[in-house]
Amino acid sequence: MKGIILAGGSGSRLSPLTKVTSKQLLPIYNKPMIIYPLETLLSAGIKDILIIVAPDHAGDFLKLLGSGSQFDCKFTYEIQDKPEGLAQAFLIGKNFIGNDNVTLILGDNLYEDNFSDSINSFESGGRVFVKEVTDPERFGVAEFDQNNKVISIEEKPQNPKSNFAVTGMYIYDHSVIEKTLNLTPSSRGELEITDLNNLYLHEGKLDVAQVEGKWLDTGTFESLHEAIIFARNRELSK
Ligand code: DAU
Repeated sequence: MKGIILAGGSGSRLSPLTKVTSKQLLPIYNKPMIIYPLETLLSAGIKDILIIVAPDHAGDFLKLLGSGSQFDCKFTYEIQDKPEGLAQAFLIGKNFIGNDNVTLILGDNLYEDNFSDSINSFESGGRVFVKEVTDPERFGVAEFDQNNKVISIEEKPQNPKSNFAVTGMYIYDHSVIEKTLNLTPSSRGELEITDLNNLYLHEGKLDVAQVEGKWLDTGTFESLHEAIIFARNRELSK
């Protein structure tokens, strides 16, 4: 299993905080944001990790994370020139993925859970990680049956079919590269991860794993603040 951390984008919703640095380098209590999704991958035993960053602050990521040796793993870096969609990570990471399975995690998503079991039990197809929320229309939304097979998945629907948000972590087999090559950009000019998930769904190969603990998408000032409180409480309770 290989890992990708997607840490590009402009972070415009968090301006002016993101005027002079990248969103994923902002402090969450005592660590830069990207360290949290990195720890999620490391704790699941993933040690070969591609970090995709925007051009503006690429050097700062390298300075923070280095080769990976201090984390007992190996980092590869790539630049995403423009934020052309989450699924573009698989085209940028084509050579890195090769014939392996891959877990993608967004560089601004924080999880409390340890995902070793759901990552290590993955064989083929696609797997998304869902969490029940009160505002599903802000996210990708999945509807699934009692065997955890996905029935439908929609991006920010006005009338959500369930309260389960698709969080920022995804596992795919290596057919993800070919599938992504078949995607066309959406009306907002992005290769959408929800379109990719729908390709797996149509093959009957998409399932869900539920996130039990806390999940935070730090896209707004409010959720950023909540993440800092969560990280502080967790650190102080150690
Ligand atoms: O957080 C989970 C949600 O992430 C999912 O529920 C949605 O299905 C998925 O589309 C995505 O929605 P967002 O609206 O949160 O995506 P956003 O455009 O804000 O991008 C999420 C992060 O990924 C953000 O930190 C910036 C980074 N990013 C985004 C794009 C479009 C990139 O690094 N490159 C990109 O091209």
